[in-house]
Amino acid sequence: MYVCICKGVTENVIREAVEQGAERMRDLKECLGVTEQCGICACHAKQALEQALAQKTLAQQQKVLADKQNAQSQQLKAPSQRFAAASGPLCENFCL
Ligand code: FES
Repeated sequence: MYVCICKGVTENVIREAVEQGAERMRDLKECLGVTEQCGICACHAKQALEQALAQKTLAQQQKVLADKQNAQSQQLKAPSQRFAAASGPLCENFCL
């Protein structure tokens, strides 16, 4: 959906700008030209910016949580792998 008709800026474009580091209205104005002509888009642009920032923060938190869970699962796997490597094949102790 268009946010700024004068500059042809959509919500997706604002989301991409946030992904690339835009954090303030000033950033959107500088990189996309939002609010530079009639200015009617200011309120909607601010809402789109805040929504994109919230989504970015949530995605970062989910990534940190997923990384933490992966690290924990790796730690849980590690002892059994070490045990298997240290003990060798099971039949070695019992066959012969
Ligand atoms: S609609 Fe954005 S400057 Fe006019």
